[in-house]
Amino acid sequence: MRKKSRFITLEGIDGAGKSTHIKKISDWITNQGEEVVCTREPGGTPFGEKLREMVLHEKMDIMSETLLMFAARNEHIKTVIEPALNQGKWVLSDRFTDASFAYQGGGRGVNWDILTTLATWVEARTPDLTLLFDIDPTIAQQRVAQSTAQPDKFEQEQRYFFDRVRNAYLERARNNPDRIVVINSAANLTDLKTTVINILNERLA
Ligand code: TYD
Repeated sequence: MRKKSRFITLEGIDGAGKSTHIKKISDWITNQGEEVVCTREPGGTPFGEKLREMVLHEKMDIMSETLLMFAARNEHIKTVIEPALNQGKWVLSDRFTDASFAYQGGGRGVNWDILTTLATWVEARTPDLTLLFDIDPTIAQQRVAQSTAQPDKFEQEQRYFFDRVRNAYLERARNNPDRIVVINSAANLTDLKTTVINILNERLA
């Protein structure tokens, strides 16, 4: 019997601290005796990383930005995510389709129906588990200012942009309560790490 692969995604506004947990989560998966592919969006493939450079640093129309996110995602799904899952590996992605609903949908105002159509078009599968690192945008922006010398296009956005992104993420979580777990990312790091491991144990062990 082929092993059951799992697809896990991490989400949150810039500065929410999701990336801090990647190593710990991938170690947890390895300790379950499973192989894991760690990846990210936008990016995850040589082509996607080129698009990431463009989309994170160049000014462009909102629909162009949206389409580039999905172009990178399409390549990512077809050449990295699906092949890995089909081989029984687990996939851990730093951001996925929820980010488009939050940033392009919530932040920029792109209609969610369009995003749903694009997600269907690229055959984006629904993750088995999404950890949403939730935090007040003011705290997140302070963290970004302290840790990032050259902020990208999104990191330079104003607080109200991140309020909208955060609200869209929380709406996604309300609409998908079985999949998306909201984590209070303002908690201290030790508690946060314990929370993440407890969720993995409860949901996926
Ligand atoms: P991020 O994942 O925060 O990487 P880093 O930690 O290196 O800054 O940055 C990616 C940015 O891309 C982030 O601001 C959110 C944005 N983004 C979208 O706007 N839409 C998407 O669909 C995805 C995947 C990301």
